Amino acid sequence: MQTPYVLYSSNVETFSQEEPQVIQDIIASMRRLNDRTRDMYGRNVRVSHGKSHGLAVGELTVLDNLPEPLAQGLFAQAATYPVIVRLANVPGEITTDAVNTQRGFAVKILGVQGQKIAGHEGQTTQDFVLDSGTTYFPMSNAKAFLMQHRLMEHAPQFPTVLKEAVSTISRVTNEALKAVGTDSAKLDFFGDSRIHPLAEAYYSQVPMRYGSYIVKLAVVPVSAAQQALADAQVEVDGTQDPNALRTATVGYLREQDAEFELRVQLCTDLSSMPIEDASQPWSEAESPYLPVARIWLSRQEAYSEARQQYVEGLSFSVAHSLEDHRPLGSIMRARLQAYPVMATIRRQGNQEPLYEPTSIDQVPA
Ligand code: HEM
Repeated sequence: MQTPYVLYSSNVETFSQEEPQVIQDIIASMRRLNDRTRDMYGRNVRVSHGKSHGLAVGELTVLDNLPEPLAQGLFAQAATYPVIVRLANVPGEITTDAVNTQRGFAVKILGVQGQKIAGHEGQTTQDFVLDSGTTYFPMSNAKAFLMQHRLMEHAPQFPTVLKEAVSTISRVTNEALKAVGTDSAKLDFFGDSRIHPLAEAYYSQVPMRYGSYIVKLAVVPVSAAQQALADAQVEVDGTQDPNALRTATVGYLREQDAEFELRVQLCTDLSSMPIEDASQPWSEAESPYLPVARIWLSRQEAYSEARQQYVEGLSFSVAHSLEDHRPLGSIMRARLQAYPVMATIRRQGNQEPLYEPTSIDQVPA
């Protein structure tokens, strides 16, 4: 029987002639930002999502008896894999948590067999690198991202008090827009909601291959305790504690387990769910996010001194992928080149080995 889902083929991606140069310009802009923050901190920090709120270990279990369109790639068969999860904040600098931006959720799945994309051959990891906020990205393609990044490149020079003010204005404006039934991904980027990092939903925002099909991906908190935090919109106030988001994350995981559903949204129409324009939301009425796996993080010390050290040597990257989950579209093609280059500069500059974990036992307690 024919499915309503768009089949993946290499033809679903289209490239502009200028794209290779645009991607080199993004990397050059990121290098300049890295030089500046390295001079500020005396070490290299991630040029995006620089501040960690925690590093957790856990398990991902693929659900049993998934129907054929959902049983693809890593999710083709029920299985349990060890995972490493890093929670973080968007800016490529170590801001106070009063500067309120989108949060990141990067998950590294270990022990994954199967054909990897070029550059990741011989490795056994599959990473998914997600953000909170919206199901789509504020910038349509690599060129639009470059324009935005050149502006961001100068942001570390602004005083913190100004960044806090921009963050608050963006958040308040976005709350007002949401009240009238609309919102802006650009404003969310600078003024995200303040709910607990473990009560947020996180989105790939941009598409990837899903075996025979194409999806966007989401990670959604599902335990009763996490849902209670989300329902209550419990605010994490960074004006009192500069590390309030980390305090909240570490405090929660010290006391309780966290559980997330991993869901996928299958592409049903390439014109209304485009691959090359990341700023177009894909209709959830047309194709809802459907569960394919669960991520379980049991109680642990998520930011011990040993883990603080260990997380700096890790790279969570869209370039760590099975061919079956190949990142797609202009934004993803830029990421495929930018993450390996920037993670290499960062780790070599800090005298860290270019290391990819092979066992969960390598993560310190
Ligand atoms: C053209 C667009 C983008 C570029 C060039 C880009 C580039 C980067 C780079 C270079 C890093 C640091 C890598 C490292 O040092 O290890 C990073 C980190 C990160 N990015 Fe992006 N990014 C882009 C879009 C996105 C999108 C669409 C998302 C999510 C929806 C995202 C989420 C993250 C997260 C969560 C991290 C932190 C990963 C970690 O925990 O180590 N980025 N990005």
